[in-house]
This record gives sequence, C-alpha cells and structure tokens, in this order.
Amino acid sequence: MIDFTFALPTKVLFGKDQLKKLGTNIKKYGDRVLLAYGGGSIKKIGLYDEITKILRDEGIFFKELSGIEPNPKIDKVREGIKIIRDNDLNFILAVGGGSVIDSAKLIAPGVFAKGDPWDLVLKKEKITDALKIGVVLTIAATGSETDNIGVISNDKTNEKLSIAGKELIPAFAILNPEYTFSVNPYQTGAGSADIISHTLENYLTLDEGCFLQNKFAEAILKTIIKYGPIAVKDGSNYEARANIMWASSWAINGLLDKGKDTDWTVHSMEHELSAYYDITHGVGLAILTPRFLEYILNDKTVKMIKNFGINAFGLEDSGDDFKDARLAIKRLFDFFKDELKLPMSLRELGIDNKYFEEMAERQVARRGGRLNGVWTLNKDDIVAIYKKSLDYEK
Ligand code: NZQ
Ligand code: ZN
Repeated sequence: MIDFTFALPTKVLFGKDQLKKLGTNIKKYGDRVLLAYGGGSIKKIGLYDEITKILRDEGIFFKELSGIEPNPKIDKVREGIKIIRDNDLNFILAVGGGSVIDSAKLIAPGVFAKGDPWDLVLKKEKITDALKIGVVLTIAATGSETDNIGVISNDKTNEKLSIAGKELIPAFAILNPEYTFSVNPYQTGAGSADIISHTLENYLTLDEGCFLQNKFAEAILKTIIKYGPIAVKDGSNYEARANIMWASSWAINGLLDKGKDTDWTVHSMEHELSAYYDITHGVGLAILTPRFLEYILNDKTVKMIKNFGINAFGLEDSGDDFKDARLAIKRLFDFFKDELKLPMSLRELGIDNKYFEEMAERQVARRGGRLNGVWTLNKDDIVAIYKKSLDYEK
C-alpha cells in the first residue's frame, strides 16, 4: 500500500428531513447566494419552491443561474461568474446533479481568477481562492457532491476536461434520496453505470496490499448490482435510491484509490466521446468498460478480472482463470444491457468511426503519449477499443 493522506471535508446531511438545515449551513459561509440549477427538473419536483422559500424566510439574498445542461458548457460558467461579480455574491448553492455541481466547481475559483475560467481548466492559471459551495443533490451518479473534481466542456474546441483541487470540495451536501425518485429509468441506469465505473477504475489495479480498499469497492459494486435494477424498475423505492445515493459519494471521494496507482483510463476514453458527441456519460462508460476489460485480458490481469466476477457478481470459481474472467466480463455486459436497460453499442448513440483516431490522439497527447491505467494503452489500443464498442451481436 502506497503512503497516502485522506480527508473528507464535506459535511453530509443525509435523509428525508435535512433540507430544513439549509439556511443554517449556508450562513456559516455566506449570505448572498448564487442558486445554480439545470433545465427545470427541480421545478417539476417542487424543490425549487422549497429552496427559494427557505432562502427568503432566512433572509438570504440570492440570484439564479438556470439552464445548466448535461455535459456542462464553459459559457454557463462564465455567465455564473458574471452574476456573482455583478451582485457581490459570496456563496454558491448547486441544486442538481454532476453537471450543476461541476459548473459550480469552476465558477467558485473562476470568480477569483484574473483571466478566463477555461484557463484554470487548461492550467494556464492556478486556482488562488474559491467561493464555498453547498449542494442539494438530485441524481446519484458522479459523486461530485463530495469529491474535488469538476468536468467542463468547451463546445468550440470539442474538449471535455477536468479541474481538481481541494478548494472545490463542497462544504456541505444535502442528500435526500426522495429527490431522486423522479430520475427516469435511463438516467438511473446511466448513474448506476457511472458509480460502477468509478469503483472499477479504483478497484481494478495490479497494486498489492490494498485488501481493505478492495473490500470497500466490492461492497459498493454489490450495492449497485442489487439496487440499480430495482431503482430502474421502481423509481420511488426509497431503500434502493438511498443505497445508490450513498454509494455514489463513496465510489469517488478518495477512499477507494488510497494506497494505489490509478489513471481512470475508461473515463478518459468516455470524456472524449462526450466531448465530440454530447452523449450521456454513464452510458458511454457502460459501453466501453466490458470492451476495455476484454482488450486488457491477459496473463497478468486475468486473476484480477476473475476475482471481480467472483466477489462482485458471486460467480463460481471453475478453476479455469480465462474462462472465469470472460464470464465476469459477459456478466457485466449483460448487467448493463438487461438489468440497467442501457444501449450497449456506440452505433446506437449515432457514433461511427469518423473521429476515433483524432480522439485517441488527443488523449495520449494530454497524458504523455499513453494512458497509464491498470494496463498501458497507446493510441492504437484506444482506437481498437472504440472499434470493439461500435457494435455487438444481438
Ligand atoms: O437539467 P435537469 O432538468 O435538472 O435534468 C437533469 C439532466 O437532464 C436530470 N435530472 C437531474 N436530477 C433529476 C433529473 N431529472 C428528474 N428528476 C431529478 N431529480 O438528469 C439529467 C442529467 O443530469 P446531470 O447532472 O448531467 O447528470 P450526472 O449527475 O450524471 O452528471 C454528469 C456530468 O458529470 C460529469 C460527467 O462527465 C457529466 O458531465 N462527471 C463528473 C464527475 C465529478 N465531478 O467527479 C466525475 C464523473 O466521472 C463525471 O465525469
Ligand atoms: Zn464518471
């Protein structure tokens, strides 16, 4: 196990009755709020009315940034920074999912930046300071509610890139599973696939001695394998929504990769697809992950993949490692397709091979010539995995 530091600064307020603590928690950090949200789901579920009433009742001044889209764009970040500067705001409340929270995570340091916020993403300018962020989560998927990462797209350059920093970790997050009852089956499946992918990016490594982290990871995988399909079928199942919501935070808040070397290979490949085609992140991951595992299956990785099948899906040990590893990959593919009901080919998302070379080239250029995950991938490897993901035999 490699040496590590671990801190979990976000205060999590979990459950049905936590929103009443919103005002008190905001007032610890500010009294002039940017209320950021997406395309309107929070209005449909009545959350917008509840939150704005609390803000008014508590005497908290607020301005709104609405219409943040999935795969959030840099223009909305610029708009948010302008609203904050024009109105002298001092706190950001992000109400929504990863897209809203991630936008807040670039607005927060962007307010203090000298130049354009995209320069912070490109690391042309460093984060000097950031406003504090509070979250009311409405979809369980990205773990952005407790992690230090934001992912923003620049549609002019077809780039989707991350910014990370301890300053970006939300100060508090209100997690009420009931707010996710209205998430449709497609987004529920995609969110569940995203949580599985975060866990696998941390879990599937060749590092030794991280037994405890790996058992935590298996618990998260089993949680999604059990509850993901229940939530897809019955969106109002509180037990399922609650377990998925709590799993989403733990899959990516830093616990699982402690003492390990990880490179988030599948996420790199997916972010490139989202950048070019604006697809749903979790769906892209579901399509790529089984193909990636097939591609890297070899003498060194076979036991790791086989053990994933046994410990997460409860498969039998037949004594034939390759057979068991292939079965584990097939089980994962079938889980995404039949139980989370996700499309399992890029072709179904309207993607063909036109940009595969270009997308692979850009990734390796950013990462020193290769992706250094559990198995090193060069440009040709990435193109091959994209090609394998185009179709499958039904
Ligand atoms: O915009 P609204 O109307 O709110 O609708 C959203 C959106 O259409 C809808 N939704 C959210 N809560 C809902 C709801 N619909 C009904 N009822 C509710 N309660 O769901 C759709 C997707 O929302 P979005 O925020 O985009 O989903 P998600 O949380 O999956 O976020 C995805 C973004 O996060 C990035 C992804 O790449 C993608 O851009 N990620 C962020 C990470 C992080 N910060 O650590 C890591 C991840 O790996 C990921 O890259
Ligand atoms: Zn993800």
